[in-house]
Amino acid sequence: MNSNEIRKSFLDFFDSKKHLIVSSAPMVVKNDPTLMFTNAGMNQFKDIFLGNTPAKQRRIANTQKCLRVSGKHNDLEEVGHDTYHHTMFEMLGNWSFGDYFKKEAIDWGWEYLTQILELPKDRLYATYFEGSKEEGLEADSEALGLWKSHLAERQIIPGSRKDNFWEMGETGPCGPCSEIHIDLRSVEEREKVDGRELVNTGNPLVIEIWNLVFMQFNRKASGELEPLPEKHVDTGMGFERLCMAMQGKTSNYDTDLFQPMIAYISTASGKIYGQDVKADIAMRVISDHIRAIAFAITDGQTPSNNGAGYVIRRILRRAVRYGYTFLGFKEPFLYQLVDILATQFGEIFPEIVIEKKMVAKIIREEESSFLRTLSTGISRFEKYASEHPAIEGQFAFELYDTYGFPIDLTRLLAQEIGKEVDMEGFNFCLDEQKNRSRAATKMDTGDWVELDSSDKSVYVGYDRVECLTRVIKYRKVSSKGEEWHQIVLSETPFYAESGGQVGDTGFLEKEGNRIEILDTKKENNLIIHFAKEIPEDLSGTYLARIKGARRDAIASNHSATHLMHAALRSVLGSHVAQKGSLVNDEHLRFDFTHYAKMTDEEIKAVENIVNTKIAQAISLEERREVPMEQAQKEGAVALFGEKYGDTVRIISFDREYSTELCGGIHVENTSRIRLFKIISEGAIANGIRRITAVTGVGALHFLEESHARLQEVKELLNNPNDVVKYVQELDEENKALKKEVEQLS
Ligand code: SER
Repeated sequence: MNSNEIRKSFLDFFDSKKHLIVSSAPMVVKNDPTLMFTNAGMNQFKDIFLGNTPAKQRRIANTQKCLRVSGKHNDLEEVGHDTYHHTMFEMLGNWSFGDYFKKEAIDWGWEYLTQILELPKDRLYATYFEGSKEEGLEADSEALGLWKSHLAERQIIPGSRKDNFWEMGETGPCGPCSEIHIDLRSVEEREKVDGRELVNTGNPLVIEIWNLVFMQFNRKASGELEPLPEKHVDTGMGFERLCMAMQGKTSNYDTDLFQPMIAYISTASGKIYGQDVKADIAMRVISDHIRAIAFAITDGQTPSNNGAGYVIRRILRRAVRYGYTFLGFKEPFLYQLVDILATQFGEIFPEIVIEKKMVAKIIREEESSFLRTLSTGISRFEKYASEHPAIEGQFAFELYDTYGFPIDLTRLLAQEIGKEVDMEGFNFCLDEQKNRSRAATKMDTGDWVELDSSDKSVYVGYDRVECLTRVIKYRKVSSKGEEWHQIVLSETPFYAESGGQVGDTGFLEKEGNRIEILDTKKENNLIIHFAKEIPEDLSGTYLARIKGARRDAIASNHSATHLMHAALRSVLGSHVAQKGSLVNDEHLRFDFTHYAKMTDEEIKAVENIVNTKIAQAISLEERREVPMEQAQKEGAVALFGEKYGDTVRIISFDREYSTELCGGIHVENTSRIRLFKIISEGAIANGIRRITAVTGVGALHFLEESHARLQEVKELLNNPNDVVKYVQELDEENKALKKEVEQLS
């Protein structure tokens, strides 16, 4: 079976077991401060496990794009050096939300592997949790018993907390798990050493393929395990490893998932895969990393200097370095692989086909700029080495930190001229830096103090700006020396920052006492209100009210963003796609794909269209809970990298003109926007432009200020009739005078 057939067989199998097949969530995580990238298929369901959101469907399956390059699960350093770890990988998963539990999870897992895929039963092993005294947890004898009906006892292995108790992160849902491993060694090898001995020992051919997690607990910040309201199943199967097993290979890179790319790299570099250890590693690194980079970009994360963008930039640089050093790629190369990805993954992840031009452009530009840095770094190294007997740790660290040189490259360069790198000094500098950044980003999150655990939090802000409410729970968090209180309410009119729109501010009031709410953010689906000061007793009924004028200005900017998006598409063309946005009470900022600077005429045309739509006083048409399929049929504008549910909210200002999927706040009628003015347009990356614009009072202020400046200039010039002509004449006169002075002197 080729990889597409294997993936399909998994989804078909769970479809036949009454699972709803859903799409992969974006790989870049937006609303979870504990996570930068999706590192497991279950991430998008975290809130369902924790009981914060009810499950609309009790059984779900999918293939999820995952990235394990930061936080608790980080495989980056292994990638390329071994044959079975990846940065981005696909995780096939099936989930039960309070529906079936261990029996079905194990029986169906077994049925799929042995009856549908016909993997050999004697090569499979299952592990189960042996219990933990420390945590007060019993051994999972239920899983053991269930496995006994499928496997001989010698194929069932108890495992410790490290291997058989799965946790999403430092806190969050977790539970005992049962892993399925496969032994892919030759018959002779298997005769020499029993596969049982090699399970979980790092052997590249005796590997875990599927993890069945029985979600039962929430790990709290205090370390305590709290039982979840219901029991769930969360399974995850490494798709690339499954393909290796199914295609009779001994490396994930030998499957049809990676071979087309390796063949291309091989031709381009003139090196044959399988002949030189270092070149092989480089080919694996590149063919792995390009997937992570390209899909991160389609999911909205371009390489940048901080946060998730920096992680992507480092992955890209790692690939460039390997190509530069071991394959001789001195010119941008990675971007050429995007076409192959589009052919391979177009069906399951269509975003890669639609966005491929933009993705390739961004990668190419990043590559060029890093290759320049790389050669500057090499010159720096050569100069330093010619003046120093050895390479100091501090200097190696500077190369690492400023030029993105991995230490192995510096060592390689040193080795070539017979010099040593002071590794102790380098590691010292590295640790210091790590400590500094840990201290800078460390966030201490206290456990929730629950006042009413039975309650759910309901958002009422689409219809109201105030409501009566109660505090469900609160906690203290501190980061960078600042302390905050986070509050969850039973009902809230506060919009939590998302989709580019900032969070609401306002207050909670009880008997004349006020709690100022300074920001509102989402943590998964939970709406969290941020306060500095809170009273000791938070019980009782509060009035929650948002700052209305600020909200009106935000709504005006948000609706204007939709009107402008449509105008851009009509003036510049339908290739214009939103790449990011920020909407606050002062202005709107909109990033979009377009390959040239907008001309003054184009800017004016966009402004004219938007101002005409404002003058036409078009009423807002808001539709909630529209099935996603219908929205797609209507051609509503959706964004890649956004997570949409099975039903969506649609915002239209004249369906024909502007219809977008959006969760934000809008004006009831375009006339409320009053005036729209673009104040800047420029490039932020190759092929991506940014517009900043203002509306309403903000636009009036902008015009007043521009007018006042012009008045000042006129007064300085003694109020000429035509100021532009006057300045031109002054300029010419000035030039002529300068020339004359030069001649005379
Ligand atoms: N969450 C588990 C894992 O990532 C199973 O999906 O391994």
